[in-house]
Amino acid sequence: MNVLIIFDSLYGHTEKIAHAMQQELEGEHKARMEHVLHYGSCDLAHVDLVVVGSPTHGGYETEDIKVFLDALSDNALRGKRTAAFDTSVVKEDQNPLISKIIDWFGHAVNRIEGEMEEKGAEHVIKQSFFVDGETEALKEGELERARAWARELVKP
Ligand SMILES: Cc1cc2nc3c(=O)[nH]c(=O)nc-3n(C[C@H](O)[C@H](O)[C@H](O)COP(=O)(O)O)c2cc1C
Repeated sequence: MNVLIIFDSLYGHTEKIAHAMQQELEGEHKARMEHVLHYGSCDLAHVDLVVVGSPTHGGYETEDIKVFLDALSDNALRGKRTAAFDTSVVKEDQNPLISKIIDWFGHAVNRIEGEMEEKGAEHVIKQSFFVDGETEALKEGELERARAWARELVKP
């Protein structure tokens, strides 16, 4: 399967998830990861599985991911496998006010899903990964979870 993982990442957590997924799939599959700003004019025509990953910023994906998705042609994702993931902080690690705000705004992955559907995606498989609010590192086990999720995405 030809897999393309497009990601954005301010502090590197989303990139680490994308990298774990790409490493898990390469070998058996043609798996590439591209920072959204380096995506350029990559052609999606021969891509079977498109994965989009973004940090959650105020409940949304980053502006660069939004610009990338907006720029796709209307049916760019039709007939392809599609998946989206986000990274965000663990709600329970935050003070009650921030925790409420996180609840209120929700996860970037839901916005990405809607935007991928506007570009023809029929079923976007979604996943969220978490950063520990105290250590500011990915929560333990998240890279393993990313690798397992990647394997699910390419199952026949
Ligand atoms: C401007 C900004 C807004 C954020 N908004 C949210 C949010 O709404 N909900 C949340 O859970 N985390 C929020 N976060 C935390 C990030 O989603 C989290 O740290 C993310 O994993 C960072 O990914 P990165 O290292 O790939 O940049 C925000 C972080 C920043 C810098």
